[in-house]
Amino acid sequence: MKILVINGPNLNLLGTREPQIYGVQTLNDVEKELTGSFPDILFTFFQSNHEGAIIDALQGTLTAQCDGVVLNAAALTHYSYAIRDAVAALRVPVIEVHLSNIHLREEFRRHSVIAEVCKAQVSGFGSEGYKLAVDMLLHKLTTPNT
Ligand code: DQA
Repeated sequence: MKILVINGPNLNLLGTREPQIYGVQTLNDVEKELTGSFPDILFTFFQSNHEGAIIDALQGTLTAQCDGVVLNAAALTHYSYAIRDAVAALRVPVIEVHLSNIHLREEFRRHSVIAEVCKAQVSGFGSEGYKLAVDMLLHKLTTPNT
């Protein structure tokens, strides 16, 4: 099984960026933990600070073999209709992830423009959220009618 994990703007700074909100693990730590937790899954990890590059990565699943996507679009979550449209165009399930609980934060973070086109949202479980998202994808892929 192949899963693409996409992280958006500023998530390359994990570990040093507002650690009281996002934790002390680096993005590399998070990715290594995922690989260790799911040894049978082939992960592709992608991070970009650029909206278009994230859209290209999402569209890549239309041609490359990919079974599902875990997406933390970071701040783009809250306003990028272009990312929403890209997710809507995919044929594989996408799970939205946020390290922090976006619903308990500033008003502008409480709304996700991509939530409606994702299969589920995980928000507020720190780096564990990525593992939960993979579990959700596995569930979706094995019980497609749920
Ligand atoms: C985030 C929440 C977003 O509001 C924020 O812009 C981020 C990270 C999270 O993982 O909690 O960059 O997606």
